[in-house]
Amino acid sequence: MAPNIRSTQQGIDPMTSGSTPQKQGRILSGIQPTGNLHLGNYLGAIRNWAAMQADFQCLFCIVDMHAITIWQEPAELARATREVAAGYIAAGLDPAANTLFVQSHVPAHAQLAWIFNCVARIGWLNRMTQFKDKAGKNREAASSGLYVYPNLMAADILVYKATHVPVGEDQKQHLELARDIAQKFNNDYSTELFPLPEPVIQGPGMRVMSLRDGTKKMSKSDPSAYSRINMTDSEDDIAQKIRKATTDPAPLPGSVEGLEGRPEASNLLNIYAALTDRTLAEVLAETEGWQFSQFKTRLTEAAVGVLGPITAEMQRLMADPAEIDSVLKRGAESANEIASAVLDEAYSAVGFLPSGR
Ligand code: AMP
Ligand code: TRP
Repeated sequence: MAPNIRSTQQGIDPMTSGSTPQKQGRILSGIQPTGNLHLGNYLGAIRNWAAMQADFQCLFCIVDMHAITIWQEPAELARATREVAAGYIAAGLDPAANTLFVQSHVPAHAQLAWIFNCVARIGWLNRMTQFKDKAGKNREAASSGLYVYPNLMAADILVYKATHVPVGEDQKQHLELARDIAQKFNNDYSTELFPLPEPVIQGPGMRVMSLRDGTKKMSKSDPSAYSRINMTDSEDDIAQKIRKATTDPAPLPGSVEGLEGRPEASNLLNIYAALTDRTLAEVLAETEGWQFSQFKTRLTEAAVGVLGPITAEMQRLMADPAEIDSVLKRGAESANEIASAVLDEAYSAVGFLPSGR
């Protein structure tokens, strides 16, 4: 059932206020400013968001508080935060029509997360596979922030009463936890404050794998620079990375079944399909029987064609940090307006006394 998010916004509904037509719901999503934005972030996240901005009221966050659950060099964190903002704008997220902002600029995320630390059960967090992956063998040495990371993520979403959350497949488990937290909060405090957010996982680019190993996710943290195509890579970098991408000896098959047991071929073809906005089957009809060398040339053209203009715009924006900062300042103002009202409701449901501010 569609939750009624309109009744609670103190008379002003940013979803329908002004002259904008009625939207289908509210989206919140985010990316961590750690390392470089890459093709997985673009195809698995930002591009899908751009396609939804006409139909939803959108808040796109740069989750710097999540980033520091693992050590980040301060200067690099600041650089990467602006780079993600530049990537958002360059990839087509319109800062005038959407709210683009930095998580740490909106204190209500951390404030609601504390309440969620007290709602979520340790047993729930113990099931989170991302914690196990990121903490590695030496769990005792992981930060406590990494452990409660999913509670902060739930707060990011619920502090806006977001109805839809577009993410890559790897985030599905965290989304389920956010729903469990919303449900438990509502039950415990006999309220309907939080809608249960729907994950939106779509598109052929939803899981982009490493160029070096088709069984591993393309990731900012992979030590091999050749494993990923960054959104700031030059044409030469892209060509070289694709040339060096791992393949197998067989020519390309004509059907999806023919890709079974060929993770590298599947990955490159999926990337090609996503970049050219086609299905895997359509792409295979084009490339059947090709050698990888021929296919890689075509893939490079597609990647450069899509990423080239985005990279150029990112560079232009990165050269003018004041422009980025002013977009983020405006974004923080409108995000704070929504989030502080929802936080007040949550505080009151919990029984916190009004502060009189
Ligand atoms: P992260 O880089 O972990 O902060 O992820 C930011 C967003 O990009 C999330 O929605 C992820 O699901 C998505 N994402 C990250 N890596 C990939 C990948 N290799 N393939 C598809 N989506 C990805
Ligand atoms: N955990 C997400 C990731 O690593 C990033 C994230 C933080 C997020 N808060 C969010 C995504 C809220 C969607 C909604 O990709």
